Amino acid sequence: MAQIFDRSSNALARMGLVLTGLIIIAAGVTLDELQRSPWVTRQGQRADQPIPFSHEHHVQGLGLQCQYCHTTVETSSYAGIPPTRTCMNCHAEIWTNAQLLEPVRQSWYTGESIPWIRVHDLPDFVFFNHSIHVNKGIGCASCHGRVDEMPLMYAQNTLQMEWCLDCHRNPAKNLRPTSEIYNMAWESPSEDHPVWCAANDKADAPTAQSVNCTTQDPSGQGGAGSEMASLRMPPAAATGLTGEVAAAMPPASPSYVKFADQMDLGHFLEVHYKIRTPKDLTSCEVCHR
Ligand code: HEC
Ligand code: HEC
Ligand code: HEC
Ligand code: HEC
Ligand code: HEC
Repeated sequence: MAQIFDRSSNALARMGLVLTGLIIIAAGVTLDELQRSPWVTRQGQRADQPIPFSHEHHVQGLGLQCQYCHTTVETSSYAGIPPTRTCMNCHAEIWTNAQLLEPVRQSWYTGESIPWIRVHDLPDFVFFNHSIHVNKGIGCASCHGRVDEMPLMYAQNTLQMEWCLDCHRNPAKNLRPTSEIYNMAWESPSEDHPVWCAANDKADAPTAQSVNCTTQDPSGQGGAGSEMASLRMPPAAATGLTGEVAAAMPPASPSYVKFADQMDLGHFLEVHYKIRTPKDLTSCEVCHR
């Protein structure tokens, strides 16, 4: 070999190898980028729905709750898409001649469901469950974004494995009180907007009731008018008192802890919602069964 190829051709060959390597890496990165691009994941794209249904109008404008239409989100793996009957609750009376609503009336008369195009659609080999997320303090907005500000629905996030894992590795950064899961405008606690939480120490309390939180100072400074303050009253059954006696009792004062930082609140909720460790939550069997 040494007679035929001199030193410089050896260097050239090495250079060639390096170059080939670089090209392969570049191609890999490009493919990877492509696989993550909105073009493939459809992140951010508005589907061409049969009816231009606006969450902004129905949620923010009319004040409808998510559960009014997505009735099974707390109890099952699927959130569910509302049947035509739900729309007709109102549209039998309102906007009855609107051309936009023709497909709704059509569906009502024929009994065939409206052919909504799915915006979020995980591959079949991935296991997902709404109820567990919602009952452990992950809000709709953490995964779907500000739905109340969407004239047309789109996917806020990629729903790729890396996105799921990013939260499963560190759920604390996204946990909120379960009473706030539908709150589209929920803000993480800060010095300006602290949150107070008290643990409900009854051993058999369901996860969703294991913590009471409020955004108003429960010590009563600035008035006792906190909406959630009533939660401080122990249920009559627990005290053995009923009726007027229980109602007349001053609220017991469980120890509220003040949180001005998301990670502090997150770690507190992790304990009381009994969230598994990142190691458990990122093991393959959780999502691929
Ligand atoms: C008046 C009924 C109604 C209400 C209230 C409502 N939705 Fe919807 N939602 C629908 C309909 C109909 C669709 C299917 C059409 C579409 O995608 O826009 C849908 C679709 C969705 C989708 C996408 C489903 C898919 O195809 O992947 C998400 C996510 C969603 N809604 C979240 C919410 C959240 C969060 C709230 C509360 C803030 C809410 N919805 C309130 C009727 C409703
Ligand atoms: C609680 C009553 C109510 C329900 C339930 C309801 N709507 Fe509406 N919808 C309204 C009202 C009121 C308007 C007029 C809103 C406006 O102009 O701001 C409207 C407007 C619309 C419009 C016109 C465009 C727009 O957004 O302003 C469409 C399309 C529509 N609704 C579709 C639906 C569909 C599809 C469903 C069922 C998934 C549904 N609505 C359920 C009350 C309702
Ligand atoms: C942890 C993230 C996460 C949270 C929290 C979450 N979703 Fe979803 N949602 C998803 C994923 C992922 C899908 C796609 C599921 C699939 O393809 O099987 C989805 C799908 C949907 C759909 C389409 C129908 C279905 O069930 O597949 C609706 C409607 C919906 N979500 C509404 C909601 C509402 C309302 C809330 C809050 C109460 C909520 N979601 C909270 C991740 C989430
Ligand atoms: C914003 C945070 C967040 C995101 C995003 C998220 N999860 Fe989760 N997930 C959680 C939390 C919190 C739990 C509850 C953990 C516990 O109870 O120990 C959970 C639990 C689960 C479970 C366990 C269900 C069971 O019964 O064991 C599955 C499966 C799951 N997630 C799948 C997914 C998939 C698939 C995605 C992405 C499409 C996803 N999650 C995205 C926070 C998240
Ligand atoms: C928190 C849920 C979750 C966990 C844990 C998880 N995966 Fe996934 N995985 C997903 C989702 C969601 C997809 C679909 C991604 C998509 O549609 O692009 C996926 C896709 C895949 C794919 C298909 C190729 C691809 O990237 O699209 C393989 C292979 C895979 N996962 C292997 C694993 C292995 C091995 C583990 C354990 C180390 C694991 N997954 C843990 C959620 C999860």
